Amino acid sequence: MWNAEIYDSFGKERMQPSIDLAARLKDKKFKRILDVGCGSGMSTAAVLSTWEDAEVTGVDLSEEMLQKARKILPQVQFIRRDCSKSLADLGTFDLIFSNAFLQWIPNQEDFIGQTFSMLEEGGVLAVQIPLFDEMPASKCILEVEKIWEERFAGIEEDKFITHTAAHYYDIFAEHTTKVHMWVTDYCHIMQNHEQILDFLRGAAFTPYQSRLNEKEMQAFADEVLIRIEKAYPVRKNGTVLFPFRRLFLTGQK
Ligand SMILES: C[S@@+](CC[C@H](N)C(=O)[O-])C[C@H]1O[C@@H](n2cnc3c(N)ncnc32)[C@H](O)[C@@H]1O
Repeated sequence: MWNAEIYDSFGKERMQPSIDLAARLKDKKFKRILDVGCGSGMSTAAVLSTWEDAEVTGVDLSEEMLQKARKILPQVQFIRRDCSKSLADLGTFDLIFSNAFLQWIPNQEDFIGQTFSMLEEGGVLAVQIPLFDEMPASKCILEVEKIWEERFAGIEEDKFITHTAAHYYDIFAEHTTKVHMWVTDYCHIMQNHEQILDFLRGAAFTPYQSRLNEKEMQAFADEVLIRIEKAYPVRKNGTVLFPFRRLFLTGQK
């Protein structure tokens, strides 16, 4: 259950990885670009500002996110699609860009293989994947999930799945020898621990939000907050550092 308003409340922080991923490729010319899991259009905006003359298509499953994307980027074609299924009918592209989407689908290996087959010769697949499992916040949520276990039957299907950087490298390397890969910790400076919760509400909480009512969700968040306060110490000036680890991969066909 994606809420575009909540997701975009940390817009600057969520858009920076797309800007950085596009910047790595800015010297290349791309005519046709596909943004997979484009959401509310933040990643699409980063792509468009890097390749202003490109024909850009955005695809996402959430109608709510797409509505927001259409408002901010009326010149882009946004299509509602389940991107865990083949997108081959959309044609071929010079760049397939995907920011913070891959972890939401189970068949990631197939997805990467299929997108490589949709690239023109010399085209690039560029992805960013949050390495959330490596962050203390992930453990905080999992601990609370255990307490509420009986409410979360089948939740694994809706949760995001991330693998190690080396695992993704192996998959990319099956399709190309031209791989670039890097990991960045984005150190978000939060004014308090509640802001970390607000950030988590935008994406990591989504599988729980669809299973709990508002009151229950508040109780769930309160339990997570207790753990977040322990995991992320307050700095000398009263702020809280929230490092967010992200993996970047580009592969050229
Ligand atoms: C964290 S958001 C990223 C959005 C955008 N790329 C950005 O950088 O802001 C993840 C997006 O993946 C989309 N998504 C999740 N599962 C999907 C699926 N099976 N098919 C298409 N989109 C999906 C969600 O709707 C959401 O918009």
